[in-house]
Amino acid sequence: MYDFSFDPADKPTLYADLASAARGLIAGEPDPVANMANLAALLAIALPDCNWTGFYRIVDGGLVLGPFIGKPACIRIALGEGVCGAAAASRQTQLVRDVHAFPGHIACDAASASELVVPVIRHGQVIAVIDLDSPTVGRFDEADALGIEALAAVIADAI
Ligand code: SME
Repeated sequence: MYDFSFDPADKPTLYADLASAARGLIAGEPDPVANMANLAALLAIALPDCNWTGFYRIVDGGLVLGPFIGKPACIRIALGEGVCGAAAASRQTQLVRDVHAFPGHIACDAASASELVVPVIRHGQVIAVIDLDSPTVGRFDEADALGIEALAAVIADAI
C-alpha cells in the first residue's frame, strides 16, 4: 500500500515531494501504462483544486488520450490544436490562466477554467504531455509550471 501526504502550502516542497514520490512509483517498473496510471492518480491526490490530471501521448504524429483521473475526455488532438496540441507542437509549457481566453481551447469538461500543459521530452522528442485542469481561473502559476516540468524530466524514461 502506498501512503502519500503532500503539503500544498509550499509549492517548492510540494513539487520536490511529488518528484520523489513519482521516482518511487516508477522505480523498476517498465510498463508505461501502469506508470502513467499511477502518476495521474498521484497528481490528483497531490494537487488540490484540479478536476483533470493525466496524459496525452504522441501516437502517429498526433496526441492520443492516455491514463488520467477526471471526466472522460477527447481521445485525439492534432498537434497545434488546443492547449495540449500547442504544448506538443511548440515543445513549450502552456500556462493558461483562463481557458476561455485561449484561442482553440478544447473543452472536455465544462468545469475547466484554467490549465497547465507540460511536454514530456525524451531523447529530444516530445513523447507525451502532462495535462492539468482546474475549475478555478488562475489556479496554476510559474511555480506549478516549474514543478511539473521537473516531474516531466523525472518520468520521461518511464512512460
Ligand atoms: N483542454 C485541452 C483538452 C484536453 S482536456 O482538458 C482533458 C486542450 O485544449 O487541449
